[in-house]
Amino acid sequence: MTISGRPAQISADELPSGIPARSVPQGDGDYFASEQPPFPPPPTPVASNAILARGELLATKGDAAHDIPACASCHGTSVAKLGTPWLDGQSAVYIKAQLQAFATGARQNDISEQMRNIARHMTAAEIDEAARYYAGRP
Ligand code: HEC
Repeated sequence: MTISGRPAQISADELPSGIPARSVPQGDGDYFASEQPPFPPPPTPVASNAILARGELLATKGDAAHDIPACASCHGTSVAKLGTPWLDGQSAVYIKAQLQAFATGARQNDISEQMRNIARHMTAAEIDEAARYYAGRP
């Protein structure tokens, strides 16, 4: 016995009630191809030049007086240490939230507490400046 022909097709009228007709697979993807989900444009980071300049200073030089090493010595730009996330272009809201979580100890997955020790020494303003600086980088 050979099996030939196309698999049986059912029409939308034959569906049990309650299932919308467009949930029937069409096989050619036309339905999904015609969908145009709106992607909002990425938000432009808003920060003054002064904030960005202080963020850049922290990132590239750190603040030795307050035991804050240059972020760039691990997070790329000058050195990208293995296991260290790239921060350029990361969302400022996310960076800020992570630094606050390291500072309070809510986030503790940094081996040898390197980020917790750094974040604890940062003021709220410095966290904001570093976050905006990195978010604004391509
Ligand atoms: C000694 C190396 C080192 C330095 C210096 C350093 N970091 Fe980190 N940072 C790390 C490592 C390693 C991780 C990843 C921790 C983990 O395993 O989750 C990390 C994680 C982070 C994260 C979380 C990223 C993510 O994707 O979740 C942020 C944000 C961050 N660092 C910001 C900074 C900022 C801002 C500075 C400078 C003030 C800085 N770091 C300095 C090593 C460093």
